[in-house]
Amino acid sequence: MTVVSKSPQIKICDSSDAAASAVASIFAAAIGQQSQSTDRDLVLGLATGGTPIRVYRKLVEMHDNDRLDFSAVTTFNLDEYVGLPGDHPQSYRYFMQQQLFDHINVDLHRTHVPDGTAADLATAACDYEGRIRQAGGIDLQLLGIGSNGHIAFNEPGSAADSRTRVVDLTSETIEANARFFDSPDQVPRKAITMGIGTILEARQIVLMATGSKKADAVYRALHGPVTTENPASLLRQHSQVVFVLDREAAARLPS
Ligand code: PGA
Repeated sequence: MTVVSKSPQIKICDSSDAAASAVASIFAAAIGQQSQSTDRDLVLGLATGGTPIRVYRKLVEMHDNDRLDFSAVTTFNLDEYVGLPGDHPQSYRYFMQQQLFDHINVDLHRTHVPDGTAADLATAACDYEGRIRQAGGIDLQLLGIGSNGHIAFNEPGSAADSRTRVVDLTSETIEANARFFDSPDQVPRKAITMGIGTILEARQIVLMATGSKKADAVYRALHGPVTTENPASLLRQHSQVVFVLDREAAARLPS
């Protein structure tokens, strides 16, 4: 693994599997450290999508083989589709249950995913912010990156101080996520997402990207202008960010 720069720190791994191991190790270290202290729960911000699947698999393995203990962990997921209940196979609550929560000793009452079926979505979004604050804020946030530079469902143009809210998905995102549905028509057009302001309040942020499809987005996040037109570039305003990449996602970065 090559560590290229200090802020944001960039770790380039030989394979996507090695990148997943590096990310899982960062999370396991934080969980291990917290279990030494009884102050309060460790608060993790979690992500969905193709990228983190292997990270979760590795955390489950660490739970099974090394007794990684999630009993004092609280989690907040980044986002959820509007209109999909938690038992819908494409909902992000369902994803988290399948990929992680059902396989570890986390207290399900301390796992939070925005409620995309709330009758009053604006109030639900506001309550989500309140629950994050009540839990003491997010200690460690996992992020993926969209090929258009989105983080969570903060599409280009999202304000740097945006909070959890309902957003419209861009056609690019709908197309990218159609692979998880039977047809693009079934992809919800709206989501409830943590804002960029919410994400930037996390104490530490790990952005993971793998594969050549992410190479441009990674390059623009790190070397393009810092602008709301490219939400991932706003991470450069945070002092504790690490980008964990495989060689393909890092291909456009200067060596
Ligand atoms: P992916 O999505 O992990 O499925 O590529 C990442 C994202 O859109 O943030």
